[in-house]
Amino acid sequence: MKVAVIGAGTMGSGIAQTCAVAGHEVVMADVAPGALERADAAIGSSLGRLVRKEVLAQADADEARSRIEMRDRLEGLEDAGVVIEAVYEAIDVKREVWQRLTEVTSEGALLATNTSSLSVTQVAAFSGRPERFCGMHFFNPVPMMALVEVVRGLRSADETVEQARAFAEGIGKTPIVCEDKPGFIVNRLLIPYLNDAVHALAEGVASAEDIDRAMKLGANMPIGPLALSDLVGLDVGLAATEALFAEFGDPKFRPAPLMRQMVRAGKLGRKSGEGFFRYD
Ligand SMILES: NC(=O)c1ccc[n+]([C@@H]2O[C@H](COP(=O)([O-])OP(=O)(O)OC[C@H]3O[C@@H](n4cnc5c(N)ncnc54)[C@H](O)[C@@H]3O)[C@@H](O)[C@H]2O)c1
Repeated sequence: MKVAVIGAGTMGSGIAQTCAVAGHEVVMADVAPGALERADAAIGSSLGRLVRKEVLAQADADEARSRIEMRDRLEGLEDAGVVIEAVYEAIDVKREVWQRLTEVTSEGALLATNTSSLSVTQVAAFSGRPERFCGMHFFNPVPMMALVEVVRGLRSADETVEQARAFAEGIGKTPIVCEDKPGFIVNRLLIPYLNDAVHALAEGVASAEDIDRAMKLGANMPIGPLALSDLVGLDVGLAATEALFAEFGDPKFRPAPLMRQMVRAGKLGRKSGEGFFRYD
């Protein structure tokens, strides 16, 4: 089966790698200068890590890499049985990309978006084939994370959802089917939890260290919520909180003002060297 992965960023390169390791031929397409080279390097170092950890044999890693073809145009994807889009999380970009993909993919292909916060039903409409369309929400880093949320758009056919579920299983993931509601399952629960930890910090419930220690020791969380916010990136977390707040219009999703202030101050977490904690 040939898989087309559109967008060669963090998620696209992880999805392409995972599909190739599972034995699929992959075409990865991106239009930004340098994006494909960066993706190639990221895939090379990720496969290298898996080989060093003895999860993958060197020969299998080499073969997987040789199964990924890079393309700097959205063209000639008619032979792809599955098309997974992972371009920027912006509705205008998704619209442009899916209108183009409609022209260069075959009628029978399974179409999927990896969007985290946009409406799958809306992106499906751009494709002109909403019954063949669903969400396939992978998690970062894709090669390590087991879950794929298979999201049923309002017009997704049952057969499409079943095909996406089977495809996810075939590449070694655990699919969980859910409806197209903001945040799906994981972000619907996780994002408000992270946001609440910031409200608690701002209210002076305890220090950042103690809030995180409490959740690790009392709720058996592997990482505290504030350290996890730093890992996700406060700007990404804020955008996700704002998206839930805008969609539901429910004050329980109100972004913590402290989170907004920290983003304005450039304290974005690990990637900027400082968030709720400092990183060297
Ligand atoms: N990063 C995460 O943790 C995460 C997790 C789950 C889902 N997602 C979702 O995955 C998608 C991609 O996120 P990402 O973090 O990989 O983004 P990214 O910024 O790392 O990569 C996006 C890529 O899309 C490419 N692109 C933009 N316009 C394009 C076009 N017209 N044609 C082809 N390629 C184009 C860009 O050049 C870039 O390489 C988003 O919808 C995001 O919500 C991200």
